[in-house]
Amino acid sequence: MTRVISVVSGKGGVGKTTCVLNLATVLAAKFNQKVAVVDCNITSSHLGLQIGLYETPSTLNSVLRRETKIEDAFYSYMPKMQILPASLCLSELEGVDIKKLGGLFKKSFQGYDYVLLDAAAGFGKEALSAMLASDEVLFVTTPDIPSVTDIVKGKDLAEKLKLKPLGLVINRARNKGFELKKEEITHLTSLPILETIPEDERVLESLGAKMPVVNYRPGSKAGESYLRLGSALAGKEYEAPRMSIFNRFRGIFKR
Ligand SMILES: Nc1ncnc2c1ncn2[C@@H]1O[C@H](COP(=O)(O)OP(=O)(O)OP(=O)(O)O)[C@@H](O)[C@H]1O
Ligand SMILES: [Mg+2]
Repeated sequence: MTRVISVVSGKGGVGKTTCVLNLATVLAAKFNQKVAVVDCNITSSHLGLQIGLYETPSTLNSVLRRETKIEDAFYSYMPKMQILPASLCLSELEGVDIKKLGGLFKKSFQGYDYVLLDAAAGFGKEALSAMLASDEVLFVTTPDIPSVTDIVKGKDLAEKLKLKPLGLVINRARNKGFELKKEEITHLTSLPILETIPEDERVLESLGAKMPVVNYRPGSKAGESYLRLGSALAGKEYEAPRMSIFNRFRGIFKR
């Protein structure tokens, strides 16, 4: 059965897109799962940019405008990982109704094991549309009060919408005294912490290299954390990363 998971946060810039790409890469390359990744952040689209996918004549925007069939709008990043980017041009917002996302997706993902929806920050129309198009919600937060407070709102919203809150990824953790502790975050959100991803310069380097950190440096701290997260999501036992599995699939795009 296809699992459709929206990756959500209230506060912006906490690492949703990074999480989506790395998780998708782990599920596809390590666990041989068929994965679709959709950029649902149409006003501030970054998914393709993080992996050097700049030229995209077909986008979620053109699909929502019914100019392109959804099956023709995917780009193949790896044999088992397809990406549906959103347009980088603001003018491409014209004629696009993001609320149609759920209806569009209903029949489109048969044959996929996972569909990861990279949501816009906050709980406005865009993020809400991604949540409504999903069955499960993965929350991403940094270990600080503003970000965690927004997760509390997000969890309430997910429950109102009858979606399954999967749990929480704490990102950019630096293990400093001023950060919220894991127990405090669990207490505030009542969500299980699925993984803590450390602050890791390799993630920023991987952004420069236009590839997920699990491809760029599988053995980095963040790379290992994403591998653990992917293993947990796939219900598999964690195994330390082997370079070759990921590097085989470096930066391949085809239509
Ligand atoms: N663990 C990490 N260590 C260091 N830098 C990180 C880490 N995770 C993410 N970043 C960096 O943080 C920035 C924001 O990440 P990202 O774009 O994934 O956040 P986002 O939640 O998707 O943002 P938005 O709300 O704008 O969509 C990026 O520059 C990314 O490379
Ligand atoms: Mg993002």
